[in-house]
Amino acid sequence: MEAMVPKLPSFKIFNPNSTNRSSAVLRSGVRRFSSSSTSSAAVSALTVNQDDPALRSVSIGQITRPDFPILHQEVNGSKLVYLDNAATSQKPTVVLKALQNYYEGYNSNVHRGIHFLSAKATDEYELARRKVASFINASESREIIFTKNATEAINLVAYSWGLSNLKPEDEVILTIAEHHSAIVPWQLVAQKTGATLKFVNLTEDEIPDIGKLKEMLSRKTKLVVVHHVSNMLASVLPIDEIVLWAHNVGAKVLIDACQSVPHMVVDVQSIDADFLVASSHKMCGPTGIGFLYGKSELLSAMPPFLGGGEMISDVYLDHSTYAEPPSRFEAGTPAIGEAIGLGAAIDYLLKIGMQKIHDYEIELANYLYEGLRSIPSIRVYGPVPSQTYHRGALCSFNAENIHPTDIATFLDQQHGVAIRSGHHCAQPLHRSLGISASARASLHFYNTKEDVDIFIQALSDTVSFFNSFK
Ligand SMILES: Cc1ncc(COP(=O)(O)O)c(C=O)c1O
Repeated sequence: MEAMVPKLPSFKIFNPNSTNRSSAVLRSGVRRFSSSSTSSAAVSALTVNQDDPALRSVSIGQITRPDFPILHQEVNGSKLVYLDNAATSQKPTVVLKALQNYYEGYNSNVHRGIHFLSAKATDEYELARRKVASFINASESREIIFTKNATEAINLVAYSWGLSNLKPEDEVILTIAEHHSAIVPWQLVAQKTGATLKFVNLTEDEIPDIGKLKEMLSRKTKLVVVHHVSNMLASVLPIDEIVLWAHNVGAKVLIDACQSVPHMVVDVQSIDADFLVASSHKMCGPTGIGFLYGKSELLSAMPPFLGGGEMISDVYLDHSTYAEPPSRFEAGTPAIGEAIGLGAAIDYLLKIGMQKIHDYEIELANYLYEGLRSIPSIRVYGPVPSQTYHRGALCSFNAENIHPTDIATFLDQQHGVAIRSGHHCAQPLHRSLGISASARASLHFYNTKEDVDIFIQALSDTVSFFNSFK
């Protein structure tokens, strides 16, 4: 099959403030997809000794790539370069195998069977909970509630803790850079309780204004909802300080750790987090599973979120009594295989080492940032990285007078480079930056400088191409 050639005469030049785009034109071609696998490479994060001096010049990206079969394919006639990791990460073979082992070997429902398969499934499911607990250094595994994703975990806190603790005079402080999943549930709960939502804006450096957040805290503040690493700005917030300030006025803190837990060491005890959420699919685990960490004294005092099997102690016709956490918050059959897959992902990440992942990603993030800054007309959002300030491993950007979706489509179809475009579920943030959309390239530890080079070259070609129509 021949490579797809876009129909050039239909192109229009768009600016990022417009919601229109020419991508439909680009998309109308035939997509070339080849799954020809080239996953030959000899080394794997699970088999090599990373401290071997002979491997010192080999990056974590090069070492781990063979573990990700999906990366070894051509898309639209080019080698796939996957830079959409903030949306979802890829899964190593060990995670795929854990899922397969479960479904082939011991698929069964958990907690309520006495037969061999059910006992094994229950053991593995609860082992996965212990792995999550230890990964974020929770003091007990019952502080981990498995949910469908981070969004469901935030809704759990909103509907359970929020509805029973917030009153009309209370305030919840958030930043305008929160993901929609951390804003909308609190809007719904504020409508029901009469509590007020207060939002922290950005500083001139395009970081949520933490000084303002501190000023806004008062005895009225009952909760602070804040991300750790922004999925658009790449800013990393001083989460320990925020928690300390909030606790000083008696407020609780819910941390959205979706973009930090997969990339760095996160320790809920040293942060003193009250609640923390993350999604498995962003940390090399399966979709359909995420988790809520909650301090046990908070969880024990919270009413159920969903009712049904598993979450009860006794059921009568006129009322029910409820199980202790975590069961109280896991109504119905959970995502068993997915939880076990998440456990395998955690084993895999730990085998590489979270600090090593973080150090490598800082280097790669700087490389990406500098690469983007080298292209005239590209505007990168968020703080400037420095010796003391590290960005998360992603860059959201726009190119003057080119719609980000056109950029993303062109990169995909002409170069096999996968990035994201749109509002990244952060519309209030985009509005505050005076745009409706941006393009975003996001990295994970299995990316390499070569991936970044290919992307930067492809982006440069794309910008030149669109500019040639001006
Ligand atoms: C910062 C942040 N919070 C929350 C979410 C929601 O995650 P999920 O869709 O897995 O629930 C995302 C996903 O993009 C995110 O980046």
